[in-house]
Amino acid sequence: MAVLDVVVYPAEVLETSASEVTEFGSKLRNFVADMHETMHAAGGIGLAANQVGSLQRVIVINIPYDGDRYEETDSKEVWHDTPFTIINPKITKKEGKFKYQEGCLSFPDIFEVVQRAHTVTVEYQDEFGKKQEITASGLMAVCLQHEIDHIDGIVFVERMSRLKQNIVKKKLVRRGNPESSINNTGEQDVE
Ligand code: CO
Repeated sequence: MAVLDVVVYPAEVLETSASEVTEFGSKLRNFVADMHETMHAAGGIGLAANQVGSLQRVIVINIPYDGDRYEETDSKEVWHDTPFTIINPKITKKEGKFKYQEGCLSFPDIFEVVQRAHTVTVEYQDEFGKKQEITASGLMAVCLQHEIDHIDGIVFVERMSRLKQNIVKKKLVRRGNPESSINNTGEQDVE
């Protein structure tokens, strides 16, 4: 197993839709093992293949109960402390609304509230190609939607309000290139 490099925004691979997985062999399982190791090493609770530079519809999730910042309940859910490998996922049902302060390994130090569905049902395949289904609420639902967005080439900034998007974009520009921020952070947001 190996810890892979996590791609940091901006990068084309983060804004490109990934392809369906069709080969469920040892190569895929080695990649999945590397993704779990990379997520663990980076201290993340979810990771999409795009984030390690691979355009495959592969997601890993593992939400520790201890590190849980889920605000609605203290109860331990069935998905806590459980490694999930989610391949070719499809959201088949969405219910309710839920706001949560999200972060992303590809956006170091950026944390903003995003509104998503409260409960989702997702059909997917495991690393052996076997069909699986999960229905989850709260943080697991947030994580599923955030990671499925990644493999569709959508970063979480795009799910923020326009006001927050502008704040985050200015932060990124300022951090990445202080000179260009002078030109790009004027008060007039024309878009
Ligand atoms: Co992310």
